[in-house]
Amino acid sequence: MKILVTGGLGFIGSHTCVELLENGHEVVVVDNLNNSKKDVLDKIKKITGSDKIKLYVEDVKNIKALDNIFKENNIECVIHFAGYKAVGESVKNPIMYYENNIVSTINLLNVMKKYNVKKIIFSSTATVYGEPKSCPVSENFSTGNTTNPYATTKYMIERILDDLYKSDNEWSIAILRYFNPIGAHKSGLIGENPNGIPNNLMPYILKVAAGELPKLNIFGNDYNTHDGTGVRDYIHVVDLAKGHVKAIEKISSENGVKVYNLGTGIGYSVLDIVNTFIEKNKVELPYEITDRRPGDVDEVFSNPTKAKNELGWEAKLSIDDMCVDSWNFKKNNI
Ligand code: UD1
Repeated sequence: MKILVTGGLGFIGSHTCVELLENGHEVVVVDNLNNSKKDVLDKIKKITGSDKIKLYVEDVKNIKALDNIFKENNIECVIHFAGYKAVGESVKNPIMYYENNIVSTINLLNVMKKYNVKKIIFSSTATVYGEPKSCPVSENFSTGNTTNPYATTKYMIERILDDLYKSDNEWSIAILRYFNPIGAHKSGLIGENPNGIPNNLMPYILKVAAGELPKLNIFGNDYNTHDGTGVRDYIHVVDLAKGHVKAIEKISSENGVKVYNLGTGIGYSVLDIVNTFIEKNKVELPYEITDRRPGDVDEVFSNPTKAKNELGWEAKLSIDDMCVDSWNFKKNNI
């Protein structure tokens, strides 16, 4: 199938392009390089040995450019990753977040409609659940009680897609709610490489282990968890990418709006991650317990059984793989 991947050179997008090519799909990437680098394209080609991938350096907000991509390529399905994703930045500049994430999606859906392409996979997040009432979190838990504009953009887009299907039952839509993606491709060629000081745990750990930052701040050890530090459902990005290939099979066989959690179902604490990282990689990782980060909750982990039952997908890689592969990527890219 010929698949348009928006944001295809980013962290999750690039790993998904690899899996798509390895499963015989053809890929067209549109990416404005806002949070990615052009050389990721060559790395994807190197890993897969395939050149069935084409890049347009364009912004999804540019509807003329999008129209042209659909005109030049016989796109059959879209995976929509492109979007801003920094929680703190979204609180400071909500208009920028609403404009970028919502306008680009509306443009994309308009152009898809024009070219009669009605299959889309949307990159959503577990943060649409807000502070979940209990764990594990299932897809039927309430959503929308979001705590920041970034999360609200994802929630709004889920609602838009829902309404779209109600208006036209020919659409076939999968909404994938990611838990905490970390890890990197085994080759060490692609991974997560944010500019500046990272917000998320694993990118921060990598900079400390590499000596680029002095120490990790562990945000609180008085949470109601087994060791007091926050518990999350970390998932290897390669497992996550494979979930998209399965979702394509699903939306190709039936119409509707399907929502799936992509997680492992296992919760690990910050200290579990830190200790595994030190032990498996034999590196030093200085850390200090500091105050809680506002907005953080005790624990969030998924119930992934719906994806297992309906997509035939489940996460296979362990927390050891996640720590080893993350560090392998970082060492290759210092
Ligand atoms: C965060 C975002 C979420 C986003 C997700 C992407 C918030 C409140 N939520 O989720 O919207 O979809 O990233 O993966 O920002 N931690 C430290 N020290 C650090 C960084 C993190 O102790 O320097 C702790 C946090 O307190 C938390 C855990 O590590 O317990 C994971 O944090 P993070 O990687 O930022 O993910 P989330 O907060 O789960």
